[in-house]
Amino acid sequence: MNDISNIAAEELSTEQAAKELERLAALIKRHDKLYHDKDSPEISDAEYDFLRIRNNEIEKKFPDLVREDSPNKSVGVLPTSGFKKVEHRKPMLSLDNAFSSEDVYDFATRVKRFLNIPESEGVEFLAEPKIDGLSASLRYEKGSFVQGLTRGDGKTGEDITENLKTIDQIPLKLHGTGWPDILEVRGEVYMAKDDFLALNERQIAAGKAHFANPRNAAAGSLRQLDSSITKSRALKFFAYSWGETSDELGHTQSQVMEYFRRWGFTTNEMIFVSSDIDALIKHYQHIAEIRSSLSYDIDGVVYKVNRLDYQDRLGMVARAPRWAIAHKFPAEKAQTILNDVDFQVGRTGAITPVARLEPITVGGVVVSNATLHNADEIKRLNIRLGDRVIVQRAGDVIPQIIGVAETNPENPDIVFPDQCPSCGSHLVREGDDVVWRCSGGLICPAQRIERLRHFVSRNAFDIDGLGNKQIEFFFKEGMIESPADIFRLQQRDEAEPLTSLKNRDGWGDLSVSNLWTAINIRRTISMDRFLFSLGIRHLGQQNARLMCLNYLNIDNFIGNMIEAQDKTSDSYASLLAIDGIGEKVADAIIDFFAEPHNMDVVNELLEQVKVEEFLPPETGNANVAGKIIVFTGKLEKLSRQEAKASAESLGAKVSSSVSSKTDIVVAGPGAGSKLKKASDLGITVLSEDEWLSMI
Ligand code: IVH
Repeated sequence: MNDISNIAAEELSTEQAAKELERLAALIKRHDKLYHDKDSPEISDAEYDFLRIRNNEIEKKFPDLVREDSPNKSVGVLPTSGFKKVEHRKPMLSLDNAFSSEDVYDFATRVKRFLNIPESEGVEFLAEPKIDGLSASLRYEKGSFVQGLTRGDGKTGEDITENLKTIDQIPLKLHGTGWPDILEVRGEVYMAKDDFLALNERQIAAGKAHFANPRNAAAGSLRQLDSSITKSRALKFFAYSWGETSDELGHTQSQVMEYFRRWGFTTNEMIFVSSDIDALIKHYQHIAEIRSSLSYDIDGVVYKVNRLDYQDRLGMVARAPRWAIAHKFPAEKAQTILNDVDFQVGRTGAITPVARLEPITVGGVVVSNATLHNADEIKRLNIRLGDRVIVQRAGDVIPQIIGVAETNPENPDIVFPDQCPSCGSHLVREGDDVVWRCSGGLICPAQRIERLRHFVSRNAFDIDGLGNKQIEFFFKEGMIESPADIFRLQQRDEAEPLTSLKNRDGWGDLSVSNLWTAINIRRTISMDRFLFSLGIRHLGQQNARLMCLNYLNIDNFIGNMIEAQDKTSDSYASLLAIDGIGEKVADAIIDFFAEPHNMDVVNELLEQVKVEEFLPPETGNANVAGKIIVFTGKLEKLSRQEAKASAESLGAKVSSSVSSKTDIVVAGPGAGSKLKKASDLGITVLSEDEWLSMI
């Protein structure tokens, strides 16, 4: 009986708890390995879940004892997902899009401005097709392929090494010489059009589901738990980028592509380098023309700044590099009949008309629904039920109706409702907003369900096993009404054995215990996910990250948002001083925290979950991290934007006004009142050169 493992979490002494956490960490690690690496688990999923739950209970009771090697820190080895999750050493970025030549010229101008290069001087860009597949990161150590990851959310991917090893165009050993000891090659896994058609024929012959397009087929093939299935699927790989490397790879993007070829990779044959934007756009047009004759799907052309030192200086914003852009091809179009229109209620009460269409294939995908956006859009299109409409689809974007091809005067009008289809509340339009919203707020079931769905969604709390269907079920049963209820579900369920979930239709011991594990794993959550999950209007992932960078922890953030209700406060001024945050966004955030009900929801949630402190990226520079910097006067070496971005990337906060909170003022020639105020307040003033040597 003095076996610690039999003592309930609440009754453990501190010393016992520490021992128990140590035991659990080792045990869970061992079983993870057996499960994921060896594919030969020794314990049942339920037993494994029990270990994790116990670990979580103890961590919750003794937060100071949480270990460096806590199973919750070694990223999400959810037993419900087949692949091990692994954090990328360097984030896998996505790309901003350009939809016109204009956008491309603007991009080139932005790049030059940032680098402080005169408009008349050229900067070289590399252009190459944008492959429509899935990106993967391949890690080589001393020339051997050791690990391959999916992109995942860009920060954490899934370990699909075994599947990637089956792809012929991925060398298991690097060819030639000169590669660095550590090299992460990134690129696109894709399926050629012919192989896709042949695969679908085989699938259909075998009575299995067929794939909508080559991209889905590649994704389905790569996510097989059995790598022999992947091997039978003819996948290919183009290398176009890299992650961690132990040495610098070269001076230019094109040079690195040359090395990649020597080391055994395939790079695209349509790479073109030029500093003449017109010539780059010609290359794009050429590729667009021959697109349909290519053996694989592409969805645009990517332009990248060729010089790598420039790429470094340009860095990234949010999740995309400043040094690259994807010039997308125009969307594909088709015609079909509009059968009906439904009205959906979103998370913020927005009413969206959704067109129900006669199914039609657009760009290889069957489309049967399209968004009509809002009432104005219906008017603008002058569209009626039964019309033949033109449907457009671009990439993963929701299909849209762009016009009417044929109508009949007898066709009935589309009647926009004047009440919420879910709760019957009247609809309102604010100011010049084009969107009608349900005024039901918290009484509207549709809005509440949508908010909960958002809360558990992939980029928010990402709770496995709590999908749209389950949320709707729990909501209708009255078991989950607010986010905190999710974390009280297990306790409530266990307190009422008679109605216990595991005895209900569609649930069993294993699925219930998996759900508890998936929920409990999320009792610790990163600050950006937490903020995003609240579903505050205009606080998307990018803005959530901006908040993290500037406020660093949740208490500080909420405290500042409450103070900022006073528009004359420093807190309001600092919020608006954040690059990328305008009044609309600021007010939406402030309004959210000003609403007592929202504060209740947040506070209840904070009783259940721990929000991690945000660690600013690359806080290598202690002189700057966490400091408030003001740039004033003319800077000669850096553009304002680069100065700001580099300070922020070192963990500093850049403000536009000097106050007693300012730590450093960097002043160039012509600095005026801000410089004076800084010296009055005794704030450190640096020249641009002093600043540069400091960072
Ligand atoms: S460069 C740091 N080049 O497009 C920039 N991406 O929409 C890394 N993609 O996540 C990307 N072809 O998966 C680059 N030639 C190409 C590409 C390409 C396809 C994908 C990539 C990226 C996505 C962004």
